[in-house]
Amino acid sequence: MCGIVGYIGPRDATPIILSGLKRLEYRGYDSAGLAVIQNSSIEVRRDAGKLERLVSLVEKEPVQGKLGIGHTRWATHGEPNARNAHPHMGTTGEVVLVHNGIVENFLELRDELATEGVEFHSDTDTEVIVHLVERYLSTEIGLEEAARKALRHLRGHHGIVLISSKEPDKIVAARIGNAGGVVVGFGEGEMFLASDLPAILEHTRDVVFLESRQMAVITEDGMDLQTLNGEKLEHEIHTVAWDPVAAEKGEYRHFMHKEIHEQVRSTTDTIAGRVDFESGEVRLPHLNLSKEFAQQIEKIVVIACGTASYAAMVGKILIERIVRLPTEVDIASEFRYRDPIVDENTVVLAISQSGETADTLAAMAAGRERGAKLWSIVNAIGSQAMRISDGYISMQTGPEIGVASTKAYTAPLIDLYMLAVLLADLRGVIDKKQRRELVAELRHVPDLVGQCLQREPDIQKVAEVLRDTSHCLYLGRGINMPTAYEGALKLKELSYIHAEGYPAGEMKHGPIALVEEDMPVVAIAPKDPWYEKMISQIEQTKARGGMVVAVATDGDELISTLADLVLWVPQVNWMLSPAITVIPLQILAYQIAVMRGLDVDQPRNLAKSVTVE
Ligand code: AGP
Repeated sequence: MCGIVGYIGPRDATPIILSGLKRLEYRGYDSAGLAVIQNSSIEVRRDAGKLERLVSLVEKEPVQGKLGIGHTRWATHGEPNARNAHPHMGTTGEVVLVHNGIVENFLELRDELATEGVEFHSDTDTEVIVHLVERYLSTEIGLEEAARKALRHLRGHHGIVLISSKEPDKIVAARIGNAGGVVVGFGEGEMFLASDLPAILEHTRDVVFLESRQMAVITEDGMDLQTLNGEKLEHEIHTVAWDPVAAEKGEYRHFMHKEIHEQVRSTTDTIAGRVDFESGEVRLPHLNLSKEFAQQIEKIVVIACGTASYAAMVGKILIERIVRLPTEVDIASEFRYRDPIVDENTVVLAISQSGETADTLAAMAAGRERGAKLWSIVNAIGSQAMRISDGYISMQTGPEIGVASTKAYTAPLIDLYMLAVLLADLRGVIDKKQRRELVAELRHVPDLVGQCLQREPDIQKVAEVLRDTSHCLYLGRGINMPTAYEGALKLKELSYIHAEGYPAGEMKHGPIALVEEDMPVVAIAPKDPWYEKMISQIEQTKARGGMVVAVATDGDELISTLADLVLWVPQVNWMLSPAITVIPLQILAYQIAVMRGLDVDQPRNLAKSVTVE
């Protein structure tokens, strides 16, 4: 969850670190700091709150140097304040460190160090690490060796970056487990380091991602990659395609608004190069899927968190309907502790925008331990989920910066549809004609998404009506039941309004007691196989004095007589309808949050990537 930036080279590190941290703001944080080696000693600046406070601190007390590290912290141990902000120093003031992750055994380490006379200056778990490093540093043992010795004491998942005024020519970085990544950027006579690509893309696109249990020793001339035992490792430099500008807001006020409107492009890109509309063939080469294995699969378990889990629910319906293959959906934080029944004939399919969500990664590990094949649908290239998978599908949407997921929800819906067609094809469940017909439906999606986006002014009017509501119920059935969950989550996480997604058929089993005039009910009722059921649900709600906002298919005269307000969507094949019906709900939640003057891109308490349990 925390952001890390490092620099070593001929330029002043301070502005490079600050601009890098700025590009990592989306990860969510509550304090920030930096350390630079200036005139052979380490200067630290850090404060609680947003980056602006650190910037003004640096303006008041300038610091510059050729080597430095910076950090944005999302508090796990210790209040978000200046003394708990990273970077953290030890006792000598000669070593400083930033950290992403949780030291699970920090209490016992803290006690052990205290008996050695160490005095602590913060309430964080992180501080024990830098004191451990100092314990081992000596004239014979340098920074990287001392770090290796210190890391052996730690339990948990970590991304760690250290510098020392005694060795002002290097940065030492290490990664253990699934904590936020560590990526090393290769410049011309200068080197960069970050927890995530956007922080360094303006400087270089040539990068190496550290794997778990690897250490990098970085000088301005390059990088030595090692195991945590000090054995030298070869490394391959990736050149990433993401354009730094793409991660900017462009003409939009918020990243989220930009990303909602990018969905014509992102639904196009996620299809690009993967279907032959003539033959109907689907190609997902990174899945490494053979016909033999496709026919061997007995079950698929789709695991994810939050918005991604609602895409998983849609995937279940698509795969079972098209492939006739048993498919389960499991919330990753539950799956990991359930001792699940999976084996070598099971595919555990993870869906994750960031590819770094701790619960999802742990659920993948639980599947791996039981012999399952691991697949993932991810957006972040080089992410942990992608790299531990036997095969993956990249969402190909480009960076999603807004904390609330939008294009990284609609893209996997299409990826799951293509996966279903590919599996059905390889298992002989569909013939070539059926394959062509299924693939042909995909061609319309980007244009239909565009039609929904053009209706934003009408959706804004509905947002005006709902902006001050305190509660809201979202109802859906069948393939649009997950749409109800996702629509409710968008409203919850953006506007802080209590909103609940519910299977419409469940209303009569309790929730209908909630219906009254000031409880708007959003009913997702496009012309799909569950339409009639939704009409009767809307009638039941109206009969009890409820107010209904319907998501309905263009031209539906019946619903316009029944519902109080309508969010119109174009007709689409029902199996692809969730990628369409969700668009007005994304815009509705966005507009209400803007009207309520809230922090749309970084809602309170939330982070873009939940890399801790
Ligand atoms: C969605 O709007 C939320 N930001 C959150 O539920 C998110 O989908 C969830 O944390 C999973 O993230 P991931 O896709 O990066 O794994």
